[in-house]
Amino acid sequence: MSQITFDEETARGLVRMYMTPDVVGQRARFVQLTGVRPGEHVLDVGIGPGLLCADMAPIVGEQGRIAGVDQSAAMISVARERCAEFGWTDFRESDATELPFEDASFDLVTSTQVYEYVPDMAAALSEVRRVLKPGGRVWILDTDWDSVTWATDDRARMRQVMDAWDGHLFDPHLPSTLGAKLETAGLRVTGVEVIPLVNTSLHGHCYSGGILGAIQGYVASQTDLSTEVAQAWADEQRARSARGEYFFSINRTCFGAVRL
Ligand SMILES: C[S@@+](CC[C@H](N)C(=O)[O-])C[C@H]1O[C@@H](n2cnc3c(N)ncnc32)[C@H](O)[C@@H]1O
Repeated sequence: MSQITFDEETARGLVRMYMTPDVVGQRARFVQLTGVRPGEHVLDVGIGPGLLCADMAPIVGEQGRIAGVDQSAAMISVARERCAEFGWTDFRESDATELPFEDASFDLVTSTQVYEYVPDMAAALSEVRRVLKPGGRVWILDTDWDSVTWATDDRARMRQVMDAWDGHLFDPHLPSTLGAKLETAGLRVTGVEVIPLVNTSLHGHCYSGGILGAIQGYVASQTDLSTEVAQAWADEQRARSARGEYFFSINRTCFGAVRL
């Protein structure tokens, strides 16, 4: 397994991809699911470039609090800049398995596209439970990468590329076990919802337009697959789109749970 480095360049790529209408819509639905309210104290685990925090900050308002952690100093710095106008945000460099907060500090903990990178989920969820107030909620969004449907004439190559891409995560299938993991951690599951993203053409302002380049770059530079295979795989998708034969979909799975 070779992980992605979450540096400034990755932050810029993430912002481009996460500001596409696909992911803006996904984030809006996720915020709705959390039920975040004015005055609440919220912790976001793995804030990345701070897009979710920037969406929740105006909702909790200055009587509330948005705290956030990320293991990457570059992401923290981008997120601080994005949320500078919200004085009630507070971002710290820290690992998801060691949250630098007192017990029972938060009404809501959120995390999107982070826990699939975390090897010790028992420790991470135990920390979520510890920092939640009794009755507090947690909402988590992650991807099972087996949920990807990408039209192709070369299924073997598609499988090779997607298997290689799985290597950038500790658990590319986390949603299928997340409910049980939450319950084991002492959190009662209250809701599950799948948010599908669908693209029928390939362009720069859709989710698959961004992830195509990220996958191509990763498999060519960090796995045993050759640059030529990665290039041919990406070229097929561009050619399909030019012919009007493009199809991509992926499921984001959201779990909600409460601390009893
Ligand atoms: C794919 S990005 C998602 C960012 C953000 N949650 C979003 O959805 O816009 C994953 C983020 O998780 C962070 N991350 C990965 N493993 C982590 C860990 N063990 N502790 C804290 N942050 C972690 C990375 O630094 C990166 O910013």
